[in-house]
Amino acid sequence: DDAYLVTHALAKHTLSQLRDVETEQVSFRKGLVKLGRICGYEIIDGRMETEYVEIETPLETTMGEQVRGLDDVVIINVLRAATPFVEGLLKAFPRARQGVISASRDEEAGREEDGSFPITIDYVKLPEITEDDTVIVADPMLATGSTMCAVLDHITDNSVEPENLIVLSAVSAPDGLLRVDDEFPEADLLTVSIDDKLDDDGFIVPGLGDAGDRAFR
Ligand code: PRP
Repeated sequence: DDAYLVTHALAKHTLSQLRDVETEQVSFRKGLVKLGRICGYEIIDGRMETEYVEIETPLETTMGEQVRGLDDVVIINVLRAATPFVEGLLKAFPRARQGVISASRDEEAGREEDGSFPITIDYVKLPEITEDDTVIVADPMLATGSTMCAVLDHITDNSVEPENLIVLSAVSAPDGLLRVDDEFPEADLLTVSIDDKLDDDGFIVPGLGDAGDRAFR
């Protein structure tokens, strides 16, 4: 329903390293893992609640706190760039169930008149989603929003409405955020940076280039 920025200093630091054209593949991948972990912690801090529990220390009984809902988390990996990002998220949510969706922009077809891209979905495997779940859909780049909207269409068509639906990206463009927010007002949009704009090819500017290529090729 709103766009939230991940403002942790280490998130900005790590994203800046990812933007740097000199950051080579191994460091790029590691940076995405680190950013995923930080974003996971930020989700816990900002979107989840703690409850008091009795804890037995080796000396006495005391009150401790635990995060509610940590066992009801589903992380959806939008292939391919999200893979290292999700690896980081899993450090914050080790018990998360995972889904995978292969969705990509048909760049040869070019952008439609409204600026969106046609999206091809090739492979989908999702765990069952319940109404207690926090579902995190992770994709480091949210450009025109075409990929995310196709992914969310698929998820919402095939499952009940979860307690929290979080769209997590590292860099996003204003157009993409507006589109996803417009089509899925129930989703919370979380991103480390809202960049200036999209270029004519639909790349985020200044952005970080093609995250999939930089991590994998
Ligand atoms: C990139 C990126 C997003 C998508 C964002 O993926 O990882 O999934 O584009 O663009 P959009 O918001 O305009 O849809 P790409 O299609 O290049 O696939 P890849 O991850 O396999 O490289």
